Amino acid sequence: AKSVYLLAIETSCDETSAAVIENGTTIRSNVVSSQIETHRRFGGVVPEIASRQHVETITWILQEALDQAGLTMEDMSAVAVTQGPGLVGSLLVGVIAAKSLACSLELPLIGVHHIAGHIYANQLVHKLEYPLVSLVVSGGHTELIYMESEGSFRIIGQTRDDAAGEAYDKIARALKLPYPGGPHIDRLAQEADGEIKMPRAWLENSYDFSFSGLKSAVLNVLNQSRMRGEEPVAAHVAKGFQSSVVEVLVEKAGRAVKEYGAKQLLLAGGVAANRGLREALTKRCEELGVPLLMPPMDLCSDNAAMIGAAAFLKWNRGDITGLDFKAEPVLSL
Ligand code: KG4
Ligand code: ZN
Repeated sequence: AKSVYLLAIETSCDETSAAVIENGTTIRSNVVSSQIETHRRFGGVVPEIASRQHVETITWILQEALDQAGLTMEDMSAVAVTQGPGLVGSLLVGVIAAKSLACSLELPLIGVHHIAGHIYANQLVHKLEYPLVSLVVSGGHTELIYMESEGSFRIIGQTRDDAAGEAYDKIARALKLPYPGGPHIDRLAQEADGEIKMPRAWLENSYDFSFSGLKSAVLNVLNQSRMRGEEPVAAHVAKGFQSSVVEVLVEKAGRAVKEYGAKQLLLAGGVAANRGLREALTKRCEELGVPLLMPPMDLCSDNAAMIGAAAFLKWNRGDITGLDFKAEPVLSL
């Protein structure tokens, strides 16, 4: 049978990415151009600059994705793009590129929710079995999602303030670590020979999360030490912070797996690259006797392959978005 090739585009934040996915699971190419270097000196993503850089990069990235796959636009069966949520100026660049290609080549166009993309990154390397519970942890999201079947998403818990990745980045900034700080905190926590104990926000009887209290607690420790002219050991701060985040995430995810009778626990999003989290979840899932599915490191952070994987499922169901949709900075699953 003839292969189905999807050309996928992701530009929701500060990564310009294009990928070619064959039959939903084979990555023929997945080109990611990160703007981290550009934004680093501002300590975070500057939306106007991100948007402009997407414009400068998108054409080249698309060509590169096709070249690396050894294919041309004529081989594509459909075009997929992140519709939202994200930075509107960034999303627009991907959406307009996707619409132009789909329109001129008369190809079906599929809009994908960014979080569905993160979740279905797992589809590229694992076989999903429902019902399952997904823990999505990224720079903009912290969600526990119950999925009774493919394409069905029920948010059972979410953050009431900061996203996990956002908290990581803010603490890293206070420790004068480069942006994005998540990987640096993770590394320090792994190396630490001690830990400054931090509080845990359990929010009893709820699957919701809160990280702003923890963030304040960490900043207080730093400020008080600095007022005394001392600098706490960064690794001890990092370890204390990470232990708190990981313990709460693991506890709530484990509880949800039991309560909902999930056949699998699925981890997704940029923070899914966190080694402490991966280790602790692996241990908990072994205790529960439930498989833990995680994307490989390079598919945790934003990339177009995950958008292609999610789009293929829609394509298979005949769920084609068409040309008549907008980039949506706020979009529910
Ligand atoms: O999913 P992603 O690439 O972008 C969003 O959709 O938000 O996630 C980026 C976030 C950043 O906050 C970054 O600091 C965090 O993921 N991150 C990590 C690690 N690697 C990336 N956080 C903790 N530990 C890591 N190893
Ligand atoms: Zn993301």
